[in-house]
Amino acid sequence: MSMSEVHVSTHPLVLHKLALLRDHRTDPKMFRELLREMAVLIAYEATADLKTQKVTVTTPMGEATGHRLRERVGLVPILRAGLGMVEGIWNLMPNTEVWHIGLFRDEKTLEPVEYYNRLPVSPTVDVCLVLDPMLATGGSAVATVDILKRWGASRIKFAGVIAAPEGVQRMTEVHPDVPLHLGAVDECLNEVGYIVPGLGDAGDRLFGTG
Ligand code: PRP
Ligand code: URA
Repeated sequence: MSMSEVHVSTHPLVLHKLALLRDHRTDPKMFRELLREMAVLIAYEATADLKTQKVTVTTPMGEATGHRLRERVGLVPILRAGLGMVEGIWNLMPNTEVWHIGLFRDEKTLEPVEYYNRLPVSPTVDVCLVLDPMLATGGSAVATVDILKRWGASRIKFAGVIAAPEGVQRMTEVHPDVPLHLGAVDECLNEVGYIVPGLGDAGDRLFGTG
């Protein structure tokens, strides 16, 4: 892939749930439910080009030609907030593997700091779907894709909910081969690296730690 792909969902369900997710009155229980549902809708769009192979199944009435997924998919949530996107997608694709990457942003430099990575020696999946609801400066997503590429992952996609233009630009410059699947691209980052209007701190809203 030579050109970066940036897909911003226009699905009415995504738009509807996104407004609820952003609302400052939405409590952590509702926030978790909405994020889980949004993740499924965005993953549905992000997996539209997964490869399949033909299979024959026997129905009560005879034989039918069907398809089964040919590619092994790995979900790669970026801790913490990416965890909120795992459960729904995992239910949709129960055979996916889940590989956690722990990063937090240094509050002063906004640079990602890695604190958890237990990837096995060589890749066990064909497609990695990186999960993080927020793409702000892009530092965390870029670092995660760096880790996955060093690991040997050949096909990587990013699924997020809200991005800043700065994060989209950084990801598409550094990793133009990684398609971005998003719910929205917002106006800007503020002086402390938060997406405006965004939804605030996704990890805090998800885990009730704000
Ligand atoms: C948030 C968010 C992303 C990152 C995005 O995580 O969940 O991982 O910031 O910002 P960036 O694009 O500028 O890197 P945070 O570092 O706050 O950690 P947390 O999820 O543990 O709260
Ligand atoms: N991380 C968040 O959780 N929210 C932002 O707006 C930016 C980074």
